[in-house]
Amino acid sequence: MKALVALILLVQLPIHRAAPAAPPPPLGCDDPESEAAAQFVVDYINGHSHHGYKFALNRIKQVRVLPQGPNNEILFLELDLLETTCHILNPTPLANCSVRTFVEHAVEGDCDVKLQKLNGQFTVLASKCHSHADSAEDVRKHCPDCPLLANLNDTDVLATVSSALNDYNSKNPDAYFRLLEIGRATKQYSPVRMVNVEFAVAATNCTLQQAKDNLQACQLLPEDQSNFGFCTATTVSEPSQDFTAECQLYGHQVPALGALPSFPE
Ligand SMILES: *[C@@H]1O[C@H](CO)[C@@H](O)[C@H](O)[C@H]1NC(C)=O
Ligand SMILES: *[C@@H]1O[C@H](CO)[C@@H](O)[C@H](O)[C@H]1NC(C)=O
Ligand SMILES: *[C@@H]1O[C@H](CO)[C@@H](O)[C@H](O)[C@H]1NC(C)=O
Repeated sequence: MKALVALILLVQLPIHRAAPAAPPPPLGCDDPESEAAAQFVVDYINGHSHHGYKFALNRIKQVRVLPQGPNNEILFLELDLLETTCHILNPTPLANCSVRTFVEHAVEGDCDVKLQKLNGQFTVLASKCHSHADSAEDVRKHCPDCPLLANLNDTDVLATVSSALNDYNSKNPDAYFRLLEIGRATKQYSPVRMVNVEFAVAATNCTLQQAKDNLQACQLLPEDQSNFGFCTATTVSEPSQDFTAECQLYGHQVPALGALPSFPE
């Protein structure tokens, strides 16, 4: 009997201690605290991402709070994110990055995040995100002629990337740039037939001539000296042929948290 009493006390004690004078009101999705937590999470996700584009907060789907003690709580957030047009290496602040529109075949991210708020400081304890594009059928339904996302290994996509990179390198012989990753590609079939690509590049330690002599020896510069850039290119095949390409270099700068994309040789 004594053991049972002790057990009941043990079970009840924490409940008594945790019970505050009045329970805190549940946190709503529009609460400034929820918004601050969500913004922290978005910055965290972008800062830890090595590929693709920065994501912006679309909406907070759900918030749950587990009080842990004074100035200490665990928050569970469910967030809806939208892909922006800024590549992860692009130094433009997120606030200045625009989200993709529906006609660009937008990509959405869903994230479940567990974070701790201790003395006003957030720490992400766990996060799980997955992204998905609007379905091609949905885009087609509302916009029959809109370009649709293409596979990044599509031959037309690869050909356009390779032409654009060759084009850029031949016009800028001082530093030879290599492909880091293809970020996005779309294809459109009517009224024009075209391929659109976006890809990230980085400088190697070679000039164009050195690259022509021995491409194998050209290495990416160390991250802190590197020069990253981002290119867009379009190949039109019908009604008439056309090719345009443009690259923007971000200059020497360390990307957020050393996020250098790895890429297969
Ligand atoms: C971002 O937007 C703000 C306000 O519109 C502007 O003042 C600032 O120059 C922009 N920064 C960049 C890097 O574009
Ligand atoms: C191209 O990518 C698609 C989708 O990611 C994949 O299913 C397919 O196997 C790839 N094809 C080749 C030749 O790599
Ligand atoms: C580039 O770096 C690699 C590895 O450090 C080196 O072997 C190569 O000679 C360098 N190339 C040039 C042109 O400096």
